[in-house]
Amino acid sequence: MIGRLVLGSAVLGAVLVLACAHAGFVPQPTVADVDRVQPIEPGLTLAEMQQGRAFYVQRCSSCHPVHGPGEYRGDQWPGLVEKMKREKKIRIPEHEQVLMERYLVAFSSTAPKLPDAGVNVVVPTIEGSSSAAATR
Ligand code: HEC
Repeated sequence: MIGRLVLGSAVLGAVLVLACAHAGFVPQPTVADVDRVQPIEPGLTLAEMQQGRAFYVQRCSSCHPVHGPGEYRGDQWPGLVEKMKREKKIRIPEHEQVLMERYLVAFSSTAPKLPDAGVNVVVPTIEGSSSAAATR
């Protein structure tokens, strides 16, 4: 029983690690990313990053699985988007392309990282629940 539980969490852990390390990992922006990206993308908002991600997935996933933003450097992305547009004859409205590129740069391999990026998942503890568990 306990053995199964341990095996189960090991498998789940491995799956989570694989999911995050997967090449096509396209992170969902969070509030923490807003501060993180200001040095390279001044003024970029959470809503804009979310829109940029949506445009990216929408416009760039029809021929191949989308590439993870972290697969390329920030200075490579605008050129890659332009290359795809030109060579693959993709039509992308200007405002979509701007947000898409800002999202890609914000999550590129050269973007500033969060202190715990990809290593720890911080699970906030709720005061009431831990004391309740202790008195049981
Ligand atoms: C019409 C089909 C099609 C669409 C849509 C498409 N791609 Fe591609 N993409 C390809 C093909 C085919 C390749 C393989 C290399 C090549 O032919 O240039 C490729 C390769 C890539 C590569 C690998 C690097 C390289 O230069 O080969 C990246 C990165 C990439 N695409 C990004 C994008 C982005 C960003 C978008 C959206 C703007 C996009 N793709 C949309 C067809 C497409």
